[in-house]
Formats: sequence, structure tokens, C-alpha cells
Amino acid sequence: MLSIVVLISGGGSNLRALLEASEDAEFPARVVAVGADRDADGLEHAERFGIPTFTVPFTSYPSREEWGDALLEQIRQWEPDLTILSGFMRLVPPRVVEALSPWLINTHPAYLPEFPGAHAVRDALAAGVTQTGASLIVVDNGVDAGPIISQERVEVEPGDTEAALHERIKPVERRLLIDAVLDIANGHIDLEELARA
Ligand code: GAR
Repeated sequence: MLSIVVLISGGGSNLRALLEASEDAEFPARVVAVGADRDADGLEHAERFGIPTFTVPFTSYPSREEWGDALLEQIRQWEPDLTILSGFMRLVPPRVVEALSPWLINTHPAYLPEFPGAHAVRDALAAGVTQTGASLIVVDNGVDAGPIISQERVEVEPGDTEAALHERIKPVERRLLIDAVLDIANGHIDLEELARA
């Protein structure tokens, strides 16, 4: 059984999908804890599923490194096999990446390497593209630059708003995430090999 810590900053709809998937006794992974860098609304999903939560507020630490060390300490208490950044809107410091990589993955609402960063959906609309997408990557020290685990295209519709487009991307992200967790757990995806390539 693959044990997972999920880190969020916002509403946690992708987290909720993973919690729902892992209710199936046949699903080979379990979320053991959910962490946040702020008082995130999505922590409620964890509470509803009886999953422990922790918050390491970014603004309570004098530096990114000290915040990262505190975050790592919390994650390690749960001894997860895999840590998932699921709408976690902070860059994770190098010490945390080095401690967890390649068992640290991130969902992103664009077809990387297109539109990295915190405003991927807005940036895609501003660029006037007809297609964007969703990606799942191994986290490295770049900004959304790590090895791609899986990705899929999503069409931009005429008149799309950022919110409408994001709501069509998220279900694709959820599917990519749940399929990848399944494949990581059953050995069909080898994160060590992906990170070496
Ligand atoms: C998701 O689209 C995720 O990919 C994105 O935040 C959203 C979180 O949604 N993450 C990033 O943009 C990271 N750069 P959720 O809180 O409803 O799961």
C-alpha cells in the first residue's frame, strides 16, 4: 500500500478526488495526512474523510528555508512513500526537494513546459492559444520544470474565462493524478527512472 501526504493551499478539489478514489478497498494507495501552508479551505475534505491535517504557515517563519525545514519535519512524521503537491502554491525549498525527490510530484493546469508558474490558466488565455492542458510532473528545483509523468491537452473554447477553463482542466488533472498514483503503486511508473532520464 502506497502511503501519501498531500499538500494543498486552496479548495482541494483534486485532493477530494484522490480521497474518494482511495475509499475503494482495491485502490493501492492511502492518504495518511494532508498539509497546508495556510488555513486552506480544502483541509475540510481531509477532516471529512477522517485524515489528519497539519498547517505550516509560510508567514510564520523568518525565511523560506526555515519554513521548508518545518514543513519537511511535519511530512516526515507520516513516513509517506509519496508526497503530492496538489494546488500547493509555494515553491518548495531545495532542501525539501532533495529530501523527498523523486517521490515528490506536482499537478499543474497547463501542458508543460508551456505556461509554468502560479497563473498557468490566465497565461494560456492571455497568449491566445487554442489548446492548453494538464500535466503531472516530478518536482525538481526548477519552476514546474521537472520530468513529465503524464499530460493531456484541453481545448480553449471561444469566450472562455479563467475560471471556466480551469474548471474544465481540473477533471483532467484528477484523472491523470489518480491514474498515476495507481501506476506508481503497482510499479508501472518508475519515478526513480523518470528522474534519472
Ligand atoms: C489545480 O489546478 C492545480 O494544478 C493548481 O491549482 C489547482 C488546485 O485546485 N496548481 C498550480 O497552479 C500550481 N502551480 P484544487 O485546490 O481545487 O485541487
